[in-house]
Amino acid sequence: MNHRPPPIKIRDFRSGDEPTLREVFFTSIRNLAAGEYNLDQLTAWAPESYDSGLWANRMQVLHPFVAEWEGRVAGYADLQESGYIDHFYVHGACARRGVGAALMEHLHRVATERRTQELFSDVSLTAEGFFQRHGFVVERRNVVTLRGMVLNNARMRKQILSGAAV
Ligand SMILES: CC(C)(COP(=O)(O)OP(=O)(O)OC[C@H]1O[C@@H](n2cnc3c(N)ncnc32)[C@H](O)[C@@H]1OP(=O)(O)O)[C@@H](O)C(=O)NCCC(=O)NCCS
Repeated sequence: MNHRPPPIKIRDFRSGDEPTLREVFFTSIRNLAAGEYNLDQLTAWAPESYDSGLWANRMQVLHPFVAEWEGRVAGYADLQESGYIDHFYVHGACARRGVGAALMEHLHRVATERRTQELFSDVSLTAEGFFQRHGFVVERRNVVTLRGMVLNNARMRKQILSGAAV
């Protein structure tokens, strides 16, 4: 019998994904980051109510890659031209199945295609170990104020094309 897990597919953002990605964002923060941040911090980071127009605009600008697992949207992550990763979220019900790793591999593939020299992000305490295992190092620690709450994260960076041909 074949027990291989279903494959994770990565595709480009499509118009209409916006509300689903908000659910990923919300469940990811509320379910997966609760070990490192308290409820007030989680609420400031991912409020229950939100402006759907502003959110849709944000997603259209970020134009993230979307991970699908068993036909469902299981996560998303963006890669800006500079190499900055602004959003990297796995659905709260889809953690520890390799969705994050599949997204991270995809970002590396795209970065290589674009000849982006480095990847960097402001990484939550929750995701720091994950980013570290994918080769990122902490450059500095940040203290961010969000909707009146103080949250800690870290600027992490990874060189990906050292000495590459032009
Ligand atoms: C950090 C985050 C992106 C990781 O996503 P993920 O999909 O759980 O990541 P993966 O499944 O690829 O890897 C996570 C762990 O699961 C393990 N794993 C992967 N596939 C597995 C499987 N089939 N069964 C069991 N464990 C598995 C990995 O080995 C890894 O273990 P480790 O952390 O001990 O090394 C996710 O926890 C998240 O979205 N967190 C909250 C939001 C957040 O903080 N985002 C970052 C903002 S910058």
